[in-house]
Amino acid sequence: MATTYRADLLSDTLTRPTPAMREAMVRAEVGDDVFGEDPTLRALEERVADLLGHEAALFTPSGSMANQLGVRLHVRPGEELVGDSLAHVVRAELGAAAVLSGISSRTWVSARGRFRAADAASLMITGVGPYQVCTSLVIVENTHNFGGGTVQSLDEIRAARELTCERGVAMHLDGARLFNASVASGVPVGDYGREFDTVSICLSKGLGAPVGSVLVGSADAMADSRIWRKRFGGGMRQAGILAAAGLFALEHHVDRLADDHARARRAAMSMAEAAPGSVDLDTVETNIVLVDVAAAGWTSADFVAAALEQGVRTYAVGPASVRLVWHLDVDDAATDAAVDVLTGLLRTPPPTT
Ligand SMILES: Cc1ncc(COP(=O)(O)O)c(C=O)c1O
Repeated sequence: MATTYRADLLSDTLTRPTPAMREAMVRAEVGDDVFGEDPTLRALEERVADLLGHEAALFTPSGSMANQLGVRLHVRPGEELVGDSLAHVVRAELGAAAVLSGISSRTWVSARGRFRAADAASLMITGVGPYQVCTSLVIVENTHNFGGGTVQSLDEIRAARELTCERGVAMHLDGARLFNASVASGVPVGDYGREFDTVSICLSKGLGAPVGSVLVGSADAMADSRIWRKRFGGGMRQAGILAAAGLFALEHHVDRLADDHARARRAAMSMAEAAPGSVDLDTVETNIVLVDVAAAGWTSADFVAAALEQGVRTYAVGPASVRLVWHLDVDDAATDAAVDVLTGLLRTPPPTT
């Protein structure tokens, strides 16, 4: 039996399929996808390719696999990717780019993961032959997870695209939360998507599906990635049952991301009032809030433990930084409970030991 919390703000990966989503999964028509015979999966891939403005798509078991297939496509062994130092691909995929693709990564330091074309330009090296490592790929993450749900500027992305096209460098978008970015900015996902060679999106985060991500790109690139997905152990059989959840999510759970954003902002405003300096409201753009608990005299470990004792689960992302994530399973009542507990802690100095 899963533990129940008054509010579980650990991650938007926690969402469980709703009864209606489960119904759709039960009804899904399925086939063997390794043989390309799953009609529901085919429908999902076509839908996502179309939404993101690309020729073709490939369903993957996880966002990490979709990203790593993108890396594999664009970077040959011995070459490099560049991205910001907080990027999920660099920081949280357990060295997969080095282990699975034999490549290196170099990073720039960014404010909250905010992408700037000039940062990418400052690291990219091309045409250096046998003397230095050549840059083959720029990674952009939108929204930015460890940056605190940061929405990237389309102008900066376009400026980088111009530069990378001139220099023959590919661009991959880690769009695990691209729909959050789109709902917050009003920019259609396709407008972001078309600026990249490949894009990954996650169905299993704010969109609420239990499993699954999708990689999009050219038809040739996706045919190649289908082979690499099998090689990575990601060939799936009757995966239409999962694709049905993804299709349901795209139909019913995109617009409601605005509710998560509104609840995150409401909670952030209460915390900023309870402890000035704990939350910078200008940085609350989507469903993720980073709280600087040091502003109220806490360490993140103590704060997370104290909140948990009162039934609110949060996540320490740094010695003084606590991450809160809103999602499908955090309603108004859970938000009220979280606000109650978290503002209470921020107003109370931690016990001295
Ligand atoms: C920005 C970002 N990219 C990729 C992933 C990886 O997704 P998965 O956990 O499905 O491998 C995550 C997971 O949290 C993420 O936040």
